[in-house]
Amino acid sequence: MTSEAAYESTYRKMKSKLSRVVPDFELRYKAEIAHEIIKLKHEKNALILGHNYMEPALFHSIPDFTGDSLELARKAAVTDKDIIIFCGVDFMAETAKILNPEKTVLMPARKVGCSLAESITAEDIRQLKLQFPGVPVVTYINTYADVKAESDVCCTSGNARAVVESLKCDTVIFLPDEYMAGNVAKETNRHIIFPTRKNGENNNLDYQMIGWHGRCEVHERFTVEDIVNVRRQFPDVAILAHPECSPEVVDASDYSASTSAMIKFVQETDKPQYLLLTECAMGDNIAAENPDKEILGLCSLRCPYMNMITLEETLSALQNNQYRIEVPEEIRIRAARSVERMIQIG
Ligand code: 13P
Ligand code: SF4
Repeated sequence: MTSEAAYESTYRKMKSKLSRVVPDFELRYKAEIAHEIIKLKHEKNALILGHNYMEPALFHSIPDFTGDSLELARKAAVTDKDIIIFCGVDFMAETAKILNPEKTVLMPARKVGCSLAESITAEDIRQLKLQFPGVPVVTYINTYADVKAESDVCCTSGNARAVVESLKCDTVIFLPDEYMAGNVAKETNRHIIFPTRKNGENNNLDYQMIGWHGRCEVHERFTVEDIVNVRRQFPDVAILAHPECSPEVVDASDYSASTSAMIKFVQETDKPQYLLLTECAMGDNIAAENPDKEILGLCSLRCPYMNMITLEETLSALQNNQYRIEVPEEIRIRAARSVERMIQIG
């Protein structure tokens, strides 16, 4: 195929999905960059992974695979490509490096954070282990490698309950997302304490789940009031909340699961309208693929970190081999144990 024909094919593919979501002049511009990326990706034997929160033009053009944290970790673990470009956030790219250390793992931007990953350090976990000796530590994948290295097992939004139940223990430390911990505690009939809070909860000695005070700065902003207002306006709406939302919000919703499970729910459910209480680019991506469904845009919140990943930066990452993710080997080996244990559980 000539370069011109290849560009037209990329543009047409993007247009077929995105004509209702992205204006044509923007599509033409972005298709040119996507075309360059796809060419270079083949020349450099690179794999592009795209999280479900990537902006629509990127999401629907360059990734070899899209998905939630668990699905992308699995893809990263088994690829035989030389380079993995991670269109997501740093902790996801680190997980790829942990699982497949021989590969060059690149992030299109520098210091792509996450408020949950920033909320806890390896030293915090060491202190908790001293305070609660012998209690297994379950760590959400939204953490950095040194924190994973101090943990017994990781989990994602897609398998948190299964991981906690697999431990077959009365008491579990679950870090660092206080809302996800609260949601898993409910699902597994445990009650939860937060030892770092000075509010008297610690006096309760028959604790079963020990949490931390981390929160996703996007999901913590959805409220039960948002849900009540939307249900008043659209009584038949299906409301989906990511488990990083508060337990009250999850309770008031119709469904809660990982980003990919939310996408599947919309595809497979026959409702006139949907409200997604999660990062807003995902709503646009779902709308693009499900023209027969109405995705309400009433609670639009963009993750500032996911927003750092653009087509322009991804092209630059491929051209300049930047920005490399490295994990010190001693930390990587210990972190790999907890990530691999999770992958075996499901
Ligand atoms: P998922 O694993 O469900 O995609 O969630 C990742 C995330 O960061 C949600 O905010
Ligand atoms: Fe982190 Fe929240 Fe952004 Fe997900 S949406 S990457 S949890 S800040």
